[in-house]
Amino acid sequence: MKQVLVTGAGGYIGSVLVPYLLEHGYSVIALDRFFFGKDKLPDHKNLSILEDDIRLFDKSILKDVDVVVDLAALSNDPSGELDPVKTWSINYLGRFRVAVLSKLMGVSRYVFPSSCSVYGFQDEVVDENSSTNPLTTYAKANLKAEQESLILSDDKFTVVILRFATVYGFSPRMRFDLAINGMVKGFFENGKIPILRDGTQWRPFVHIKDIAKAVRLAIEAPSEIVNGEIFNVGSDEQNVQIFNLAQRVAEAIGIPFQYEWYGLPDHRSYRVSFKKIREKLGFSTDYSIEDGAIEIWKALKEKKLYPNDPKTITVEWYKKLIKEGVMV
Ligand SMILES: NC(=O)c1ccc[n+]([C@@H]2O[C@H](COP(=O)([O-])OP(=O)(O)OC[C@H]3O[C@@H](n4cnc5c(N)ncnc54)[C@H](O)[C@@H]3O)[C@@H](O)[C@H]2O)c1
Repeated sequence: MKQVLVTGAGGYIGSVLVPYLLEHGYSVIALDRFFFGKDKLPDHKNLSILEDDIRLFDKSILKDVDVVVDLAALSNDPSGELDPVKTWSINYLGRFRVAVLSKLMGVSRYVFPSSCSVYGFQDEVVDENSSTNPLTTYAKANLKAEQESLILSDDKFTVVILRFATVYGFSPRMRFDLAINGMVKGFFENGKIPILRDGTQWRPFVHIKDIAKAVRLAIEAPSEIVNGEIFNVGSDEQNVQIFNLAQRVAEAIGIPFQYEWYGLPDHRSYRVSFKKIREKLGFSTDYSIEDGAIEIWKALKEKKLYPNDPKTITVEWYKKLIKEGVMV
């Protein structure tokens, strides 16, 4: 049985990815500081939980590990600006440390979940060969960690970079600070979808279960196809303009579309090509924006999610932890 170490395993993506990997026959070590709680992962005979920091853990835990999926990070732009030095120390240095120790300890594959935010905002449709334009500390640290971990790739150590579109969908560690999830929450609470002005801006989206599927492909694909490669993760059809996105969310839920504007006009727009992952790995998405909206709506109605749970807005939760003296 293959052993996968997932860092950031208690987070939004990790708490969906870990059960998915267990279901697909992997044994998993879930390493996390568990800033959002330890109750997000299932009890499972093939799961071990390790409360530790990617900047500090002992390398011996990597002894029998085959693959590392390195999700741990301060996970969005506003959280990344709270303390930029900390962001560099976790998102770049911490993850580069994980990559180096993985190589030293004989791990055969390192999967690095990066973000399409490294492209910044550009007029053209961007692909993996386009120039990057990271605009925030979060995006800059991601790009640096990508570049440095790629240098480690060789015939014994496969490095795969995945640049995720903005993720949506239900997770036990919910994030309402992601566009689609936040729209559904606004609709649920006020009957109005919050839309960032002026709504014409393009963004790429991907469902969280499709992310889990893409990570598994990156773990299982032959090394000669993925080693040293960067893949955007998403689908061309899910590049959407924000106003249109809100209309689709309302239509899926089946309640008359009402909305409210917020923020200053945001002219920052980008569209991403997902041709490479489709053609090289045969990846296609199984879930639509409508599926995600309905699933979150239902979870709110059934009280599996609470719109006011303070942990669901990442930056606010980190502010609280820092105020309480928790070492982030
Ligand atoms: N969610 C998205 O839309 C999206 C899009 C692109 C890329 N990503 C990337 O995917 C990864 C996971 O994102 P997420 O949405 O699950 O975020 P998240 O904030 O829910 O999860 C991150 C996890 O990392 C943990 N963590 C933070 N610092 C740590 C440290 N020093 N040591 C150990 N654990 C630590 C946190 O406790 C948390 O559980 C991040 O690297 C993020 O940049 C996410």
